[in-house]
Amino acid sequence: MVKPKIAPSMLSSDFANLASEAERMIRCGADWLHMDIMVSHFVPNLTIGAPVIESLRKHTQAYLDCHLMVTNPIDYVEPFAKAGASGFTFHVEVSKDNWQELVQKIKSKGMKPGVSLKPGTPVEEVYPLLDGDNPVEMVLIMTVEPGFGGQKFMPEMMEKVRVLRKKYPSLDIEVDGGLGPSTIDLAASAGANCIVAGSSVFGAPDPAHVISLLYKSVENAQKSS
Ligand code: DX5
Ligand code: ZN
Repeated sequence: MVKPKIAPSMLSSDFANLASEAERMIRCGADWLHMDIMVSHFVPNLTIGAPVIESLRKHTQAYLDCHLMVTNPIDYVEPFAKAGASGFTFHVEVSKDNWQELVQKIKSKGMKPGVSLKPGTPVEEVYPLLDGDNPVEMVLIMTVEPGFGGQKFMPEMMEKVRVLRKKYPSLDIEVDGGLGPSTIDLAASAGANCIVAGSSVFGAPDPAHVISLLYKSVENAQKSS
């Protein structure tokens, strides 16, 4: 059975105190730290790049789950590997022509390759990336339009999670966007095991409580499946 992993999205953290925010999340029980890398060619926002990952890496041993919302992910594999990224998740919408080379490169640099889909992208588009010789190791289903934290969860995306979980029982399936105490059961029962949560964790008076609630929801759903 795939392990539950709760990944607070550092996009909702105080970027001016990134190292202490990361440490606080790990103390609160986070399994991974989700890092949103955005450029405005792909989403209507700009966030952080490899230099910030490199700085953060000096302060934490945590698994840095990097979600690249960029149009040219292949150009970032080397800089992110050097900076200390752990997971490298790219978007399928921009990688149709070179995903094989991309996955190979990510693996050769010792990072875990993942592929993400925007809400409008059909789940079938990732099958080739899972069924070939050199598969990705995680699928990230966006449950909001990528670009910003604090948006409303799209329950209709759960069908993608269900279909994927049925076809790939031991795959890491991550959901990202609008996850929190009121939406986690939908995602967990559909089969998601990696949960990204930004505003619901950072906005809570007791983030440790929210992290443990998310974790337990995934665990319970797995027990009863
Ligand atoms: C959105 C990002 C998310 C975002 C999630 O494009 O990929 O990781 O930070 O934030 P919440 O949990 O607030 O929806
Ligand atoms: Zn993300």
